[in-house]
Amino acid sequence: MSQVIDVILNGKKTKLNVEEDAFLVDVLRDLGNLSVRRGCDTGCCGLCSIWIDGKPTLSCGYLAVRAVGKEITTIEGIEEEANKFAKLLAEQGADQCGYCSPGFIMTVIAMKKELTNPTDDEIRQYVTGNLCRCTGYESQLRAIKIYLGVQ
Ligand code: FES
Ligand code: FES
Repeated sequence: MSQVIDVILNGKKTKLNVEEDAFLVDVLRDLGNLSVRRGCDTGCCGLCSIWIDGKPTLSCGYLAVRAVGKEITTIEGIEEEANKFAKLLAEQGADQCGYCSPGFIMTVIAMKKELTNPTDDEIRQYVTGNLCRCTGYESQLRAIKIYLGVQ
């Protein structure tokens, strides 16, 4: 059975018609937010990361009906800031196949809002749920530190 819920999607009041067993990853992709990717589908890889009320959330495990009244943000809603960090990822060699990048970028921008002058370990801890098959993570760490302005 489907129901209509009100959300704020990328800054716009939006009505979503969702099946009661639909997960946000599918609902968002069906709406054209193709940055939201599916990897493991089990809450382990971080590819489907979005923000719910500003907090990084795995959309593959989040029932769409739970989002009623919430603010949902995908990379399509924060393109300018996302491009800024994406450029640093590319410069540091951390954007190889790029499949993990949208979810990773969502997590890192959320970290920037939440943490002040994090240590390397705090950074690693924050992004631990965002897996990457290509980079080995050191280039990502360099890009994050430049982005956050920490040495
Ligand atoms: S697809 Fe959601 S965590 Fe992997
Ligand atoms: S750049 Fe290929 S999975 Fe991360």
